This record gives sequence, C-alpha cells and structure tokens, in this order.
Amino acid sequence: MLTNEMLESIKKVEATRDERMHAELRKMTAEEKEAILNAFHPDYKDEGFEVLQVGPNKGEKVPTELCHLLQGTSRVLGKDIDLENPDYDTDVLIIGGGGAGSSAAIEADEAGCKVMLVTKLRIGDANTMMAEGGIQAADKENDSPAQHYIDAMGGGHFCNKPELLRKLVCDAPIAIKWLNELGVMFDKEEDGTMVTTHGGGTSRKRMHACKDYSGAEIMRTLRDEVWNRKIPVIDYTAAIELIKDDKGAVAGAVLQNMETGELYVARAKTVIIATGGAGRLHYQGFPTSNHYGATADGLVLAYRAGAPLLYADTIQYHPTGVAYPSQIFGALVTEKVRSLGALLVNIDGVAFMNPLETRDVTASTIIRECKERGKGVPTPDGGYGVWLDTPMIERLHGEGTIEKRIPAMLRMYLEYGIDMRKQPILVYPTLHYQNGGIKIEANGMSDVENLFVAGEAVGGIHGRNRLMGNSLLDVIVFGRNAGKNAAAKAKTIDTVGKLTLSHVDSFEKELEGAGLAGGELSPKLLPDYTRK
Ligand code: FUM
Repeated sequence: MLTNEMLESIKKVEATRDERMHAELRKMTAEEKEAILNAFHPDYKDEGFEVLQVGPNKGEKVPTELCHLLQGTSRVLGKDIDLENPDYDTDVLIIGGGGAGSSAAIEADEAGCKVMLVTKLRIGDANTMMAEGGIQAADKENDSPAQHYIDAMGGGHFCNKPELLRKLVCDAPIAIKWLNELGVMFDKEEDGTMVTTHGGGTSRKRMHACKDYSGAEIMRTLRDEVWNRKIPVIDYTAAIELIKDDKGAVAGAVLQNMETGELYVARAKTVIIATGGAGRLHYQGFPTSNHYGATADGLVLAYRAGAPLLYADTIQYHPTGVAYPSQIFGALVTEKVRSLGALLVNIDGVAFMNPLETRDVTASTIIRECKERGKGVPTPDGGYGVWLDTPMIERLHGEGTIEKRIPAMLRMYLEYGIDMRKQPILVYPTLHYQNGGIKIEANGMSDVENLFVAGEAVGGIHGRNRLMGNSLLDVIVFGRNAGKNAAAKAKTIDTVGKLTLSHVDSFEKELEGAGLAGGELSPKLLPDYTRK
C-alpha cells in the first residue's frame, strides 16, 4: 500500500504538473555529466570490482561476482567425458536461444549448413523477449547511418569499436526490412510508414517499435522461423565447457541436461556463443530487469578457452526499474515512457533533469537525487525512488495514448491497482545490460579460431554505454552476421581434428598457481535465491 508520505508527495506532483507540461529541461554539459558519473554511477565504485589474476584479461578489473565465475571451477573437472564418441555432430553449434542465437541459426541454415541450437531454458527465454521500447534504425529521410553512428559513439563515450559500430548502423535498415518481411508487426501509420520515436541520446526519431513489447514480438517471429525451418533445438541443455581440437580451434561443447545432469558431447566445425547477459548476478546488490538465465555463462566458457573480454567492467543500469510495488521490484519501465513525455520528478514535485539524457547519466542523476540530495521518495520496504509522471503522456498526446502505445506497462501496473494514466509511478535504476563482453572482429569471430559470438555476450559494439534500441538491433545484425560467417567458415573445414579439453586443465593449473583453485562452480547456469 502507498504510504502517507507517498500520497503526500503525489499531491505535490499533481499540483506542479501544469507548470511542467511544456517545460524545456536543459541537457547537461560534458563536464557535468563526467562529474555525476564519477560520483554516482556504480561502475565508478571500486568496491564493486575485483582484479582478474589469471586468463587473457589478467590485471583488469571486472565486477566481483563475474570475477569469481571467470576464475571459478570448471563443471567438467573430474568428469569422465568420452570425447571420442560425440553424441551430436553438426556444422554450426549455437549456444543460446534468444534473438542473437535464433538469428544466427536462421542464417546458418539458410547457408545450407547443418545447425544445432542448444539452450539451457527454452528457445525465447532470453533478454530479447523482455525488451520493450524498440529497435533503432536510420531508415527515414531526415536520418542517416552516419547520424546514428555519431549518436551511439557519443553515448558510448567514444569507446565503441569503430568497425563494429559501423556494421551495426549500416546494417540497421536491412535488419528492419528483414524482420518486417519475416512478419514482425511493427507500429505503422495508416499509410504503412513505420512509427518512430526518440530514445535517450538520439538526435533523430529512429526507434521502431511494436508497442511496448517489441522484443516479445521480434522473438515470437524468430522462434517461429527457427521452428518452421525445422532447425534442431535442444531445450533445457546448457553448454558447460567449450571443446577444442588438437590445433587449438574451438570444435564443440560439453552439454549438460538441466534436469538430469547428464553430460553430452557435441562436435561442431564452428561454435557461436549467444548466451546473453549477466543481470542475474545482481552486481552491487541491484535488482534486475533480466530474464532468469542471465548469468554470464558464455563469458566464462570463452574466457577459459582463451578469448579476451572487452569492457567487462562496464554495466548498464537502466534508469527506470520499478521501485514500487515490491512484487515487481526491478522490472523494466521502458524508456519509451520518457520518450512519450513523462518527466522524472522528485519528492517535492520538482522535475530535476531532462529525462532523455543517456542511460548512464540518467541513472546516476536519479541515484544522486535520492542519495545525496535526499529528494527520493521512501518506499514501504526501506528503499526509495523518484516519480515518473505518466499522466503527462495523456495530457500531451491525448487520452488513450498509454493504452495504445505502452499497453504492457499499463497492464503490469493495473495488476497492482496502479493506473499509470492517472497517477505517477515510482522508479529507481535496475541492472539491465552488460555493455562489455567477448571481444570480436567485424566477422563475429573472437580471438579463438572458430569461436563466434553474437548478442549481449559481445563487447565493444556499444563502447562503455549502450543507447536504447541498439541491443535489439545488435542481436539481429550480429546474430545474422555470426550465422553467415560461422557457416562460411564451417564449409572450409573437411573434418574436425581430435577433440580435447586440455585448455580446461591448463586454466586450472593457472588457477592453482595463483592460489585460486577450488572457487565456485562455473558457469553458474541459474541464480540462487535460497535464503541463506
Ligand atoms: O527501455 C527500454 O525499453 C529498453 C530498451 C533497451 O534496452 O534497448
């Protein structure tokens, strides 16, 4: 139940609404942004990080929870694994059943390869399914991929790998066309033109959406396509280690049935890691908007196989996670709510920032408002948040806009007796995205031969901060890219060499040498919410 303090604050939000209806809230200067990030962004809190002692990124800091997994104990150690007689034999093995894995599977199949997709939950249980606001593409007359590039490069603090970002923005219009032709039901005007909106840090309206369930609609379409093509999908089966051949190229994976624990060997000419993010590691105690399986598995597998990570120390905290009610604590409140005009308002009814700053800056400013300025609204559970003044949307665009443009948000809150058309909603940053990940080249291959990567497991596309809508885009662009290139590479390989797990033994020796043997089992596979 809303507390009296919350009710009093809502009155102030209502009383000040008229005066902020057409307020022009200035954007921060570069110096102001830098200062606020330094002081309040969780990436800048040293206590949330540890330095890696072994492996390709030795000497670099990563979030503590990830560090423990990267330096953890392999699940295959001490297991009797028959590498001579694989249970599966395929050209392209795809690990992960989200948007990137499915896009890769479709393209590798299209190229005429034998494809197999394994996923530790079910195909579609992925962050793609949970994406709400939309997918960016510069496909309108007032826009261009160059403009998109500049926006994303600025948002990423000029750290994006240029060749990856170039591919992202140049292939974006093709990705939208591909999805549209596969059957994705994008929001369109009566004449068929796609509806597009702004996101934080965009200079043009280029966010294409399917109301506020864009990811679900895209995932629905991709999954149907995988099923229609009869691509083998092995559900509830996790990859727990990569396998190499005698020349050091990746050549398959050890799989584990999530229910029975049985192990299987899959031999493959090329492997694509598309395992997604790490939100369920709850860095620095943050809640998350991520799906249940987001535990950084692909990063662990690739790291042990010798693939370097890039920017693994940079995490995205989405500015607007649910702060109240507690049943949906941390769930995503799409940025589209702000794109449609809702402002961020503090306990006194004051709009304290332009709501379409980039995500890292917006999240940090909300944290400052609550922690330093004491202007957050206390929740019944001892947390705090700021208001997102959603009734402004109906005032700005007319009654019925919320129902039409963000119906999933409306329904989510109505379940808990909150009508966001009439009352503001309380939000606070939530762990949303892994900006960094496994380093790849523009062809999608990591530094380890025959190991390709796509989707959130990749590092470098978004630099040190991703813009809204560039993730749904990258799963399609780089998923398809990895599928095509892994298939092309597989076609150059006649027979796979002798399978080995010797890299796992070598990594274990490194751990022993650093006094780190016996760490937690990794990959983690699923989060542990048991009360200790
Ligand atoms: O706010 C959102 O709808 C999230 C989109 C994204 O992360 O790209």
